[in-house]
Parts: sequence; C-alpha cells; structure tokens
Amino acid sequence: MSSTPSPTGPSTDQDQAPHEATQQHEGAPQPEEVERPTHPEAASTNASEGPANIGVVGLAVMGSNLARNLASRESNTVAVFNRSRSKTDELIEAHPEAEFVPAFTYEEFAASLQKPRTAIIMVKAGKPTDAVIDELMRVFEPGDIIIDGGNSLFTDTIRREKAVSEAGYNFVGMGVSGGEEGALNGPSLMPGGPDEAWVTLGPILKSIAAVAEGEPCVTHIGHDGAGHFVKMVHNGIEYADMQLIAEAYDLIRRGTGKSPAEIADIFAEWNKGELESYLIEITAEVLRQTDAATGRPLVDVIVDQAGAKGTGAWTVQTALDLGVPVSGIAEATFARSLSSHREQRDVAGGLPGPSPEDFTVDDADAFIEQVRLALYASKIVAYSQGFDEIRAGAAQYDWNIDLGAVSKIWRGGCIIRAQFLNRIADAYDAEADLPVLLTAPYFVEALGRTQDAWREVVRISSAAGIPSPAFSSSLAYYDGLRAERLPAALIQGQRDFFGAHTYKRIDKDGTFHTLWSGDRSEVEAEDTH
Ligand code: 6PG
Repeated sequence: MSSTPSPTGPSTDQDQAPHEATQQHEGAPQPEEVERPTHPEAASTNASEGPANIGVVGLAVMGSNLARNLASRESNTVAVFNRSRSKTDELIEAHPEAEFVPAFTYEEFAASLQKPRTAIIMVKAGKPTDAVIDELMRVFEPGDIIIDGGNSLFTDTIRREKAVSEAGYNFVGMGVSGGEEGALNGPSLMPGGPDEAWVTLGPILKSIAAVAEGEPCVTHIGHDGAGHFVKMVHNGIEYADMQLIAEAYDLIRRGTGKSPAEIADIFAEWNKGELESYLIEITAEVLRQTDAATGRPLVDVIVDQAGAKGTGAWTVQTALDLGVPVSGIAEATFARSLSSHREQRDVAGGLPGPSPEDFTVDDADAFIEQVRLALYASKIVAYSQGFDEIRAGAAQYDWNIDLGAVSKIWRGGCIIRAQFLNRIADAYDAEADLPVLLTAPYFVEALGRTQDAWREVVRISSAAGIPSPAFSSSLAYYDGLRAERLPAALIQGQRDFFGAHTYKRIDKDGTFHTLWSGDRSEVEAEDTH
C-alpha cells in the first residue's frame, strides 16, 4: 500500500514521538469509579480460537502502554506482537502481572486471538502501518478487525479502509490522544470505521479510555477516516492552545519582569478557574523547572525553535481545502515555522520597530488579569474554529459526527482536555446544529466580559513590538465574523476589474460584470465565482 508522508517527514511516529506525562482530568472520577462493560466474548472459550479478545502490534512505548492498559482490565486478554522479538520479551519480563499472550510470528498472533480477531496497530504512521496491515490481512480472516492507532492522515485512512474492506476485513482508523501516560492510564480515543467493528471494539475501548464526568472518553466518531480527522483537528487546536499560552507567558514576563517561577504560580492559579486545563497545568510545571547544569530556569536554556510533527499543518491544509478559516490554528502553526527559521531571524534582528526590552506595565496585577481574559477569549475562538472544521469535514466526507460527543470525549485523557469543554458540550446539547459555537449563550457572555481586555492586550503587544500572532488573529477573526459588512465587496470589484470574475449585487438577483475597459456600464453575466 502506498502512503502519504507526513508534511514534515516521518513525524507522526507514535513509536518515536516523545510524549509528555498526562494526568486524569481533575475532578473526573478515576477509571475504577465507572462501570466498565464486559467484553461479550472475553469469558467465552472456543477451542478453535486463541484466548485473547484484543491484540496489539508494535510494542514501543505507546503500544506497550496501551497493551498494559488493556491487560489491566479484567474483561481483556491481550495478545502482543512486535517485529523484533526483543521488545516483546522485554514487555513480558517487565510486567509479569499483565498476563499477556505473546506471539512471535503473525501466524501465532492470529492464532492467539478470538474471532472476530481484533488488533490495534501501534507503529509509525505511513509505510510501516501499511506493511503491518498487509501482514494482518495475510493471516486474518474476513470479518476480523484491524485498527490503526497511529497519527495517520485521514485521507490515508480513507484509502486503507476502502482497500481493507474490499477484501472483507473491517478497518478502523483511531485517533489516540494523551501521550504515553494517557495510553497507560486512560487516553481519549477517536475511532472511525464501520458500525460492525464498533460492536466488538466499543466495549474494549470503553474499558481503557479516560473517564470524565463519569463517561468514558471514547465514541464512534463516524465512518472510515472520521476518527483520524477528528484527532487531526484535536492536534490543530492543541497547537493554537499552546501558542496562546506561550504568548501569554511572554507578555507577562516582558511586561512585569516576573521570573518564570513566579509566572508558574500565576498559571497554577489560573488552573483553578475557567482556564483549567492540562496544558495550563503543565505550563506551570515547565516554567517552574530549573536547569540542573546552569541553575537557570529551564525555559531560558531551551532553544526557542518549536518543532512540529505535521498534524498542525495537516489541519491547516485540510481547512484550506474545505474553505474553513482556522486562522488561530494557522497562526500557531506558522509561529512554530517562524521560530525555527533562525537564519532569517538572525538577519532580520536589526529591523526597525519598538524594542520589547523597553516594555513595562504600570500595574502588573491588572495586566496579568487582562492577559488571562485575552487568553480565554482567544482560546474560545480556537476551539470554535476547530469545531467548524470538523463540521465542514463531516459534510464533505459524509460523516455523521456528533459535535457534542466529540467535546465530551475531549474532556479527559487528551492533551487539550479542559474544564471549558463542558461548556462546549452544553452548547451542542442545547443545539446540536449550532452554526457558530461562539454564539452559544455561555460564550456570548464570556466574549462580552473578556473583550476589552482582549483588545487592550493586542493593542499593547502591537505597540510594544511583542509578537502575539494567535491573540491578534483570533481577535481579527472575531471582528470579521461579527462585522455586518466586510471589505470583501471591494475585492469582488477588483476581481471583476482584472479578470471579469463578476459580482453579485445587494439590491437584485443575478450575476454582474462592469465593462471596465469599455464604457463602464454594467451587464448581466455568467456566474464564474
Ligand atoms: C496527543 C498529541 C500527540 C503528539 C503530537 C503532537 O494528542 O497525544 O497530540 O499526538 O504529541 O504528535 O506533535 P507535534 O507538536 O510534534 O506536532
């Protein structure tokens, strides 16, 4: 099978990607507190089948943690397989409590599984995933279920689902969020694929997912690539959220002169309120960290060039194709690119403009509160844009995606888990087809009360020469969305002038063109868009 490479190289590699530790969403019941479903076949013994109700292929950190999570549930018996035997041996040796069923060939792996055989692939996205799928199709039987738990591009998943289902197998592309710790203790899971596979897979996934507000953080997102599409957008929102937090930190540090450790305390405080989220929580941890070698704050010795494995770029590329303005996510993705162009930054360092070093605020506490409010408003915009993209993707690819259910499974386990996802869930519960999330009553109130601070922070950062691309672009998006009239009318006029691209009029139906190089009279025209 051919595959689409990641935009930034082999970067969606769950095997190799560093994954930060995650914690259960605060206030949510721990996994033990929720009633766990029992896998319907877990207790059955069929002499012609193996003992395992689920298998994992690929035992690097994500795969082995997911396998350990599965094995920790009474309802599961877990077969494990890795291309090189040593990883399987290491897992078995390190975790005798887990009672894995090890396999050392694909044939043994197939024989160790109950039917329908159900296997989760946790290998590097791209060609390695295709290679494992081919092997599983060789040893599995029609009706069996092959799940790709990597960060695959959703169009690859659509292609794979088509090929695998044509051969009679079930294929499920599944987004897995929460890093290594999430895989072990409860990830947020976003499976796509056919309904038939969900019948078998649903109870298994519910047994290992994170739990938020008493509900497992997993739902059947939709057919074929829907799960990986939603995971891609999750990552896009993750990029925006991280950039906004970074801008907030930068403004506070420059404006107040507070140390990273002092700013860590501010973030820890923010984490007790409406901004409560995993990313705010870990920001405090990172800012508080001192570098052992130099005694300096760790953040000051880390090179200021952000990496990216490509899922943010996919989110933006896909949004461009769908015509969805995810400007906050795009700015965050471009901000990472800009940071990594050190060679350009070096030569551009002397360009004219205010020096951020000269920037100080008079009232530090008031400024910090303004930044908090600006962060909240911008964050609301980023999530709203992400949900817009999911709605547009669902329409384009004919997926019946329940946006409320998506917001609920993101409340626990995943990297963007946040208190305010409950408010998003409320908004979609009240109106499933809500066209603009920002217009839900809770967000209208929040945007009303944050607005002045938001504008002030963007104004201050602009005047001080401190880049705040995500803050600024979310505000511009917000004002664009609420504007009664946009200068797009002029753009239509320009397009008609140089390319006879035509325009519509506000006062009558039809499509029109002005004879710009003639007598400048208006004629009716074919709609050329
Ligand atoms: C998650 C993360 C995970 C990973 C990404 C982000 O949901 O668990 O999003 O998928 O950390 O690979 O990677 P980059 O920031 O490197 O693009």
